Amino acid sequence: MPKKTLYLALSTVFFAATAQAADPSVEALVANRCATCHGAEGHATSPIFPSLAGQNREYLIKQLQDFKSKKRASDTMAPQVADMSDESIAAVAGFFASKQAKTHRVSDTDLLPVGRYIFTKGNSWSGVPACTTCHGENAAGSTNLPRLAGQNSRYLLSQLKDFNQRIRNNDNEAMHLVASRLTELEAKAVADYLSQLP
Ligand code: HEC
Ligand code: HEC
Repeated sequence: MPKKTLYLALSTVFFAATAQAADPSVEALVANRCATCHGAEGHATSPIFPSLAGQNREYLIKQLQDFKSKKRASDTMAPQVADMSDESIAAVAGFFASKQAKTHRVSDTDLLPVGRYIFTKGNSWSGVPACTTCHGENAAGSTNLPRLAGQNSRYLLSQLKDFNQRIRNNDNEAMHLVASRLTELEAKAVADYLSQLP
């Protein structure tokens, strides 16, 4: 094997090996800067914060980049990501994506069937599309679409409100249309339903 090829082959092995081991610098960053609100393992410390455990990696990267560019306005998150490089954004996203999501218990179970109806069928009278069309049958999302299963109900509700009022407008209008057609009861019902999904 020519020397240069050997070097390339060896360095590939080296980088692959380091990528697999838990990265202590990422864990330290999470512990120092994110854990207060999002938890060391990505389970939010208050229901108003989003849990990040099990969230899709590409979606997390997109949100962090959007906070950095202020495309997604947040007084809380903007200073957190202002000095983060693309590499550490990707590393932190990978860290949280690899954690296990949790579910929540709901106090008013009478609302759950309403939530399930909105989630799987939408509301054809008011033009709400079924959430499953984009977020998937199990609310697990996909590459660029967020997982909603197991997310805090209060956080989900706050985002629906922000999409409706265009306070959050980094989604190219898809969610504005959905949120603007949901009644308050439907929004609460679907948020509760999603929060208790595994
Ligand atoms: C002081 C509390 C706080 C800290 C510290 C914090 N966050 Fe956040 N984070 C929030 C809040 C609040 C939101 C919801 C955005 C909003 O509405 O302002 C959020 C949203 C997010 C989202 C979007 C989640 C989604 O589902 O769309 C990501 C990703 C995120 N934070 C990652 C991080 C990372 C990574 C760190 C550490 C570098 C961090 N946060 C530190 C409070 C915090
Ligand atoms: C046409 C596709 C589409 C449909 C239908 C749809 N969504 Fe979304 N939703 C999106 C996209 C895209 C995003 C991510 C926006 C971004 O990149 O910031 C999103 C984001 C969200 C978020 C923010 C999650 C977070 O972690 O911050 C919530 C909450 C949400 N959707 C709830 C719903 C609910 C409830 C329904 C059904 C009533 C629904 N969505 C239907 C496309 C859709």
